Amino acid sequence: MPRALLIGSGNRDKATELAQLLDGTAWDVKTLGDFPEVPEPEETETTFEGNALLKARYYGRAFSVACVADDSGIEVEALSGAPGVRSARYAGENCSYDDNNRKLLAALKDAPPAGRRARFVCCAAFVDHDGTEHVELGTVEGLIAREARGSNGFGYDPIFMPSGFEQTFGELNPLVKSGVSHRGEAFRKMCAWLAEHGA
Ligand code: IMP
Repeated sequence: MPRALLIGSGNRDKATELAQLLDGTAWDVKTLGDFPEVPEPEETETTFEGNALLKARYYGRAFSVACVADDSGIEVEALSGAPGVRSARYAGENCSYDDNNRKLLAALKDAPPAGRRARFVCCAAFVDHDGTEHVELGTVEGLIAREARGSNGFGYDPIFMPSGFEQTFGELNPLVKSGVSHRGEAFRKMCAWLAEHGA
C-alpha cells in the first residue's frame, strides 16, 4: 500500500505544479483539499528553508501524515535580492500577481540591463511522522522582461525570462518551465531522495 504524502500548500497554482512533479513516485499524493480545512500557517521565518520546513511541519502535524512543502520566491539583482521571501506579498497583503508584477516592473524602470538579472529560488522540505526531515534547493537564473508576456503559469512567470530563452515563463509550455525551473530542480532532487528513503 503506498503511503500518503501531503502537498502542504494553500496556493492552488503551486500545488498543481507540485502534484505533477510528484506524479509517478511510489507515494499516494494528497492535497489540502483531501483534508478538513485548517488556517494557513504564518510564514514567520526569514529564509526559504525556514519557511518550507515550517509549512511541512505544520501540515504534517495537523493531519498526522508525511508532508512536503516548498517556499519560493524571486530575487532581483538591482533590488539587492528583494522581494525574496516576501515575493507573495511584495505589493502588500492580499495583493494580486498583477499588482506584484506592476510594482516590480516600476521598480526596475531605470535599472541598467544588468540590474534586471534575477533568479527564482525554491526550497523543498519533507517532514515525516518519525521526525525525519530533508530539504533540497533549486534555482533558475534569468532576466526581468520589460513588460508582462504570456498567460501560462502564475506569479512572476509573465515577467521572468529564464537564461537561454527569449520567452517568459508565462509564454513557455508548462513542461518546458518544469524542465528548467527552480521548483522542478528542487522536486526532482526531492523525488530522487524520496525514492531511496521514502514510501
Ligand atoms: P510562497 O512560497 O507561498 O511564500 O510564495 C512564493 C511566491 O513567489 C508566489 O506567490 C509567487 O509570487 C512567487 N513564485 C514562486 N515560484 C514561482 C514560479 O514558479 N513562478 C512565478 N512566481 C513564483
